[in-house]
Amino acid sequence: MALDEFLVELDGLTDSATESLNAALDVDSLEAVRIDLLGAKSGRLKALQKGLAAIDSAEKPVAGKRFNEAKQKIEAAYAAAKERLTFAVAQQSAAGFDPTEPGCKPILGHLHPITQTIEELKDIFARLGFSVADGPEIEDERHNFEALNIARSHPARDPLDNFYLQTATKSAGAERSEWLLRSQTSTVQIRVMDETPPPVRIVSLGRVYRPDTADATHYPMFHQIEGLLVDTDVTMADLKSVLRMFCSSYLGEDVHVRFRPSFFPFTEPSVEVDMRWQDGWIEMGGAGMVDPNVFEAVGYDPEKVTGFAFGLGVERLCARRYGITDIREFFKNDVRFLHQF
Ligand code: DAH
Repeated sequence: MALDEFLVELDGLTDSATESLNAALDVDSLEAVRIDLLGAKSGRLKALQKGLAAIDSAEKPVAGKRFNEAKQKIEAAYAAAKERLTFAVAQQSAAGFDPTEPGCKPILGHLHPITQTIEELKDIFARLGFSVADGPEIEDERHNFEALNIARSHPARDPLDNFYLQTATKSAGAERSEWLLRSQTSTVQIRVMDETPPPVRIVSLGRVYRPDTADATHYPMFHQIEGLLVDTDVTMADLKSVLRMFCSSYLGEDVHVRFRPSFFPFTEPSVEVDMRWQDGWIEMGGAGMVDPNVFEAVGYDPEKVTGFAFGLGVERLCARRYGITDIREFFKNDVRFLHQF
């Protein structure tokens, strides 16, 4: 090929290339132009480069130099076109953002129904003048049994009915450990009275543990609300009034409270507390007048103070409120159940 001819073709290609690169309207068409011009296999520039070989050797340096200049020019035009189009895309999407459109609502969780119930029960008792006390879930036998007047021979202390913990000093095979997962929140009665002189007016809400097989009404871990009021001249009428006020606040005005005679080592007399709700009586827990032996164990004078105590099941209260028939639902953590509360 003659040099003149080569240079005419080269100029023609450079002009048309710059024109089509400048005219590309979007990133996709620019890419098509790039392949057509600069493609490594069959691009038009590559084809022209092959023509270089046929040029007279004396004229080759000039041809090569001009070819390189043309190539750089085309590449520069391509780079400029690319920058122009990507900037346009960025601007377009910025313009396409409408801050007044509703956003995507994030999925938020909420408190577990038992936690919600606990908060509500605390609220109701706060209005009745009770403050909240806490106690540990790992307890010793004094707080869980002895100070509560539960003798060593009492069946409630049976290792099969409690989660005793093995301690380093009392290992397997030795006499049973003094530590256990508390089986009732009545432990907190002792903790509070150990620390504070009368009068006392507290509720305590938390987990308790018993080795029960899980079924619709049992679970090896559940929650209780414990109440304790100690003052002078406290009577069972006060106990019943407080429980009735509590029940009508939590379940509704038409709830009736019934006491059935019962026995607990830490109260005398003792009662089972039933509530009539919708079409039946439901047992909610136990209650009674604090036994003088308990007062003595914490250094209170039973001649000077009287008091009442009660313990109710939190799951039971929550289940009655919402018509839940299987306690296990609370602990499966199935969001289809939980999101309804
Ligand atoms: N602690 C008892 C239980 O878990 C419930 C109970 C009964 C608590 C009578 C009390 C009470 O405070 O006075 O079965």
